[in-house]
Amino acid sequence: KANPNQPIYDLHNQAARIYHTVLTSTEAGEQARDYLYSRGITDAIIERFSIGLSLTDQDFLYQSVSQKFEESVLTNSGLITFAENRIFDSFRGRIMFPLKNEDGQVIAFSGRVWQADDIANKTLAKYKNSTTTPIFNKSEALYNIDQAKQSIKKNQEVYLMEGFLDVIAAYENGMTNAVASMGTALTEGHIRQLRRFTKKFILVYDGDRAGQGAIYKALDMLAADEVEIVRIPDGLDPDEYNKTYPNSLGDLMTNSRIVPVEFLMDYLRPENLSNLQSQLAFIELLAPKISAVRSLTAQDAYIKRLVEILPDFEYNQVESAVNKRRDDVSVN
Ligand code: GTP
Ligand code: MN
Ligand code: MN
Ligand code: MN
Ligand code: MN
Repeated sequence: KANPNQPIYDLHNQAARIYHTVLTSTEAGEQARDYLYSRGITDAIIERFSIGLSLTDQDFLYQSVSQKFEESVLTNSGLITFAENRIFDSFRGRIMFPLKNEDGQVIAFSGRVWQADDIANKTLAKYKNSTTTPIFNKSEALYNIDQAKQSIKKNQEVYLMEGFLDVIAAYENGMTNAVASMGTALTEGHIRQLRRFTKKFILVYDGDRAGQGAIYKALDMLAADEVEIVRIPDGLDPDEYNKTYPNSLGDLMTNSRIVPVEFLMDYLRPENLSNLQSQLAFIELLAPKISAVRSLTAQDAYIKRLVEILPDFEYNQVESAVNKRRDDVSVN
């Protein structure tokens, strides 16, 4: 039975080809290509990720596809906007990142500003995403899932990143099992999809405050899964790290992972640990996390590290707080 949404998929696939051709084979695309090259994106990456360009014209896409698709399809796709007295392309003057489903069909776009004037124009969002359509729900979509799926299964782990360009930087470093959400927080929908392929999640979020906060939230949602965290130094995001330290992102992602309790020990650490109250509260917060760690050797190491920063507590006091949690767990 034919999928009633097939024409919308077809339109998206065709639009992606048009945007890609505009970027790679026209004079108008030359400056946009230079912008991408300046960010370290090669022609091979442009091909691999089907990157494109929407022209600044009012209706270049509409003119290119209007003969081939019914008006209802054009409307429902969200790619063309039908206003009261004019018809215009929803994406104009942006570098286009197509988003594909697991089968490799284009389901949406995210367009990034790239011209100096547009970047300076604070009223323009840096990225503009497709609106919700019959084939696209941004809280479920995962950038690069089409290409990463096999690699996630093979490696039995998935890298979760914040940005498209972070996923691309990972790919350039040989890490092919990375995906990103559409600038939204991680959702149950994302996690459900990915658990079909693996139970191990590696969080590689931006090294800024927002990124660290996103890790904290993600840890809550992934409490039942195996999780490791890669912290990007110097407040950089993975793509910026890749520019600053060429060819080392892969090594960082593979070899500089920490487990949730190590992250929490730092993230939840109060400003002031000098009074007993705050030390006790901190122990209460971390004890269940430490007792959840499978390896007793690792638990021992975390307890020691905690004791190092607590002026008024000894090893056996922290250990008994952890053991109390252990007992609680075994009673339940
Ligand atoms: P680049 O300069 O392209 O590397 O972006 P960035 O690293 O500054 O992006 P940031 O860390 O701020 O955001 C990560 C992701 O959030 C992006 O890949 C987008 O998916 C999304 N995002 C960023 N800015 C916007 C925005 O203005 N609007 C929307 N809808 N999404 C955004
Ligand atoms: Mn091509
Ligand atoms: Mn950010
Ligand atoms: Mn970023
Ligand atoms: Mn970035």
